[in-house]
Amino acid sequence: MTPDTKLRAVIVGAGPSGFYAAGQLLAEDFAVDLIDKLPTPFGLVRFGVAPDHPKIKNVTRVFEKTATNENFRFFGAVELGRDVTREELLAHYDLVLYTLGTSSDNRLGIEGEDLEGSHPATTFVAWYNGHPGATDYDFDLSCDRAVVIGNGNVAIDVARMLVLDEDEIQPTDTADHAVEAFKSHGIKEVIILGRRGPAQAAFTNPELLELGELKRADVIVDPEQMKLDEVSQKWLDSDLAEPTNRRNVDIMTEYSTREPEGKSHRVVLKYLRSPVEILGDGKKVTGIRVEINEIIDDGNGNPKAVGTGVTEDIECGLVFRSIGYRGEPVDTVPFEPKRGLIRNEGGRVTDEEGNPLPGEYVSGWVKRGPSGVIGTNKKDSADTVEKIVEDRDAGKIPAKEPLGDNREWLKSKVPDLVEWDGWTKINEREVALGEAQGRPRVKLVDIEEMKRIANA
Ligand SMILES: Cc1cc2nc3c(=O)[nH]c(=O)nc-3n(C[C@H](O)[C@H](O)[C@H](O)COP(=O)(O)OP(=O)(O)OC[C@H]3O[C@@H](n4cnc5c(N)ncnc54)[C@H](O)[C@@H]3O)c2cc1C
Ligand SMILES: NC(=O)c1ccc[n+]([C@@H]2O[C@H](COP(=O)([O-])OP(=O)(O)OC[C@H]3O[C@@H](n4cnc5c(N)ncnc54)[C@H](OP(=O)(O)O)[C@@H]3O)[C@@H](O)[C@H]2O)c1
Repeated sequence: MTPDTKLRAVIVGAGPSGFYAAGQLLAEDFAVDLIDKLPTPFGLVRFGVAPDHPKIKNVTRVFEKTATNENFRFFGAVELGRDVTREELLAHYDLVLYTLGTSSDNRLGIEGEDLEGSHPATTFVAWYNGHPGATDYDFDLSCDRAVVIGNGNVAIDVARMLVLDEDEIQPTDTADHAVEAFKSHGIKEVIILGRRGPAQAAFTNPELLELGELKRADVIVDPEQMKLDEVSQKWLDSDLAEPTNRRNVDIMTEYSTREPEGKSHRVVLKYLRSPVEILGDGKKVTGIRVEINEIIDDGNGNPKAVGTGVTEDIECGLVFRSIGYRGEPVDTVPFEPKRGLIRNEGGRVTDEEGNPLPGEYVSGWVKRGPSGVIGTNKKDSADTVEKIVEDRDAGKIPAKEPLGDNREWLKSKVPDLVEWDGWTKINEREVALGEAQGRPRVKLVDIEEMKRIANA
């Protein structure tokens, strides 16, 4: 097909799932416009992945290659629900693919959650990564102990960032405001709390191993915690557990045998504890009350935590809840509030009765939930694109009468939107600022400044 006769897809969200889908749709002869609410592409690769893991961010090279395709266009600073509506996108394009990610967080629903010093990991991560929507947050890091609730890789990222040495933070692309705050903070100990046992931790092995190699922090695991209960042991020995779980137990067992080296900081892994109240002085966090749990079989062989009624108070000045991200409803896009996802059947957006809506698709975290690494989204997008191709071949995605050039239409909505060459200018400026300081980049955090640079 010639560019004029290609079916026109718009992808909303320029994170990994959006970029993987773009590459796959281009290979299937679609023309692709990719829009993002931010002037910068790459979603959580830019605003999630920890700054001290620069190699992970090299995946953007794959996305940059996609952007060189002549049938690809990027339009940054265009937000669905603010600048354009779902109805408009459906009128201007032959199909719409939502790859919006899950920007919000799960709540614990316990007393004290809104005290000063109690934060979702989502905002902390966005803040230290220079997300333009998070620059105004203020994190008082002057206390000496922080508690991170949850046992996923995000909890590890948060804990690690809190104990990195100034010399380890300085050469990264951590946002300048966070570099300054990390320099002078008082935190000496970070406790990571798991509601179940070490066997059920959701960490991946390399991330857990990294905790044991920190320059200025000892990792502390109580050997008593590594005496697994019967249910966990049986589960670990069964096919229900993953090799990752078994390896995690080995790693933590080794940690439990270590004599602390007396480093200036500590990361403590504590298990079988559920937060029941965040304690405060009426204004600020002073501690956290946890209930001690035991593990029972949920009836299917899976370990489940149940409270024993015994509680324990842990003194701390900061609490980060890192218990998973959550999608937010956008415009009139069908949404499942219970799961926090766009309503869909295998990537086809559906109505309340479960019928596929013509020309609407979804992929990535907002399709399947907030789990999986960057590469997981490649397969996920490929599954959705397979459905799109199936529908196209079955004549279910008819070409619509063009309403003019969509670039002009989008520019009429957002005159200073940022196209790919504009992002290239922002990127060059950031890299140049970084070079002078021996850093990969200095992130710009002001949207208006970025738009000015992009459109200069
Ligand atoms: C803190 C953290 C650290 C991580 N670290 C790693 C790691 O080290 N290695 C790894 O492999 N994986 C890591 N992951 C997982 C990885 O980031 C995700 O698997 C991946 O980013 C999900 O991709 P996505 O495209 O679905 O969502 P996202 O990356 O969230 O992208 C969604 C995009 O949609 C845009 N958007 C949202 N709403 C709108 C709207 N209304 N209009 C227009 N655009 C919109 C957003 O701006 C964003 O660019 C990490 C995740 C987190 C949370
Ligand atoms: N370096 C990397 O590769 C990297 C870095 C960051 C993130 N990621 C990926 O991004 C995805 C999201 O990570 P994530 O850490 O946000 O989520 P996650 O891996 O799903 O972990 C969430 C954790 O929160 C716990 N939890 C949930 N509800 C809770 C509650 N009410 N009380 C106490 N604990 C609760 C869960 O415990 P239960 O198991 O008991 O439910 C689990 O330990 C993951 O796939 C992760 O691997 C990867």
